[in-house]
Amino acid sequence: MTVAVACAAEADTRAVGRRLASLLRAGDVVLLSGELGAGKTVFASGVAEGLGVETPVVSPSFVLVRRYEGLMTLVHADLYRVGSSGEIEDLDLASDAADGVLVVEWGDVSEQSFGEDHLMVRITQDDEGVRTVALEPHGSWRSRPLGEVAP
Ligand SMILES: Nc1ncnc2c1ncn2[C@@H]1O[C@H](COP(=O)(O)OP(=O)(O)OP(=O)(O)O)[C@@H](O)[C@H]1O
Ligand SMILES: [Mg+2]
Repeated sequence: MTVAVACAAEADTRAVGRRLASLLRAGDVVLLSGELGAGKTVFASGVAEGLGVETPVVSPSFVLVRRYEGLMTLVHADLYRVGSSGEIEDLDLASDAADGVLVVEWGDVSEQSFGEDHLMVRITQDDEGVRTVALEPHGSWRSRPLGEVAP
């Protein structure tokens, strides 16, 4: 079942990412969806914190993919500038992150390229800028205790 968390401040979105990290296993795929400035990179940096990554996470917009070492490897990608599903499949991000966790900004544009087993995180915002972070489980994620990610 989808779990939705209201996040009034950047720190709240970061904290959801941090708590999610405790549910992550090697080989996991987390796809992030949301408009420009929604908070996808903030969420990814929370995941990094939760994985014990000490290097600050920066947007991978220009390099497409960055790799961080923590308790597990974090591969953080941004598909905003990648044109087609074919190009995304050629990047083969999943093999890049086989020994760790793959977090993909704009992952919704090519959800089918990542296989059934993934967590979709949809970040939306209301007129006051309050974000809702909705965690939508697919595949093996359906049997994980996603409720633990809510505060
Ligand atoms: N509740 C909130 N959650 C997350 N970010 C917030 C929140 N409120 C305000 N912000 C601000 O919104 C911005 C989110 O930026 P971020 O780079 O994470 O977005 P993004 O979705 O990765 O954008 P892009 O599509 O450009 O990669 C930050 O400047 C952050 O401070
Ligand atoms: Mg970003």
